[in-house]
Amino acid sequence: MDRLDRILTSLGYGSRKEVQNLIKNGHVAVCGVVSKDVKQKVNHADITIDGEPLDPQTLIIVLYKPMHYVCSHDDAGRLIYSILPPRWQRRNPKISTIGRLDSDTTGVILLTDDGALNHALTSPRKHITKVYEVTLASPLQGVEAEIFSSGTLMLRGDDKPCMSAKLTMIDPYNATVELTEGRYHQVKRMFAAVGNKVVKLHRKQFANIEIGDLQEGQYKIIRKEDILF
Ligand code: URA
Repeated sequence: MDRLDRILTSLGYGSRKEVQNLIKNGHVAVCGVVSKDVKQKVNHADITIDGEPLDPQTLIIVLYKPMHYVCSHDDAGRLIYSILPPRWQRRNPKISTIGRLDSDTTGVILLTDDGALNHALTSPRKHITKVYEVTLASPLQGVEAEIFSSGTLMLRGDDKPCMSAKLTMIDPYNATVELTEGRYHQVKRMFAAVGNKVVKLHRKQFANIEIGDLQEGQYKIIRKEDILF
């Protein structure tokens, strides 16, 4: 239980003042009865605004990240958060991406305001699977799958080899790569280490979560139980 105005403010329904006005103007009900008491102690599940249930207490979102959006709260440029509804952008705790994709990478990205979940899914110990579709500047030589799976590939500047990764060739310029790590620019650096260059990168899957029927820039809410890890 928490104060009515505090719950609504933390979910981004407005500033404390705006939320108090919403309540005083009779838009908010608790168990179906209009409440004008901003300090009333209530359960999230019992609140409605103009008859509509509140946004979930915890948000987990799967987004099809478009090109040229940045997974950061403070970088210059187009932030990935700007795709989300303004109310979600005002939530406290903030919604953050679970890991990051480069600005020029498209595909599956999860976002949440659940810090513990975010931590669990980005922990190097959890070995969450990520699957990428890669387009290359030069044709595959035929040795890459073995090198990637060897568990001995060293990336420039790192002190440990990459864990075994699975490369499946689609044609000489296109492959899928399945990783269980999430190092900085990992896919691009792995191909750089074998003398190639990634020209297009798309994440198909994060854990068991796929794009499904989302179009670029679209998102949907999922439940914690939907993520298998
Ligand atoms: N590897 C990369 O190089 N970039 C990404 O965005 C994700 C994985």
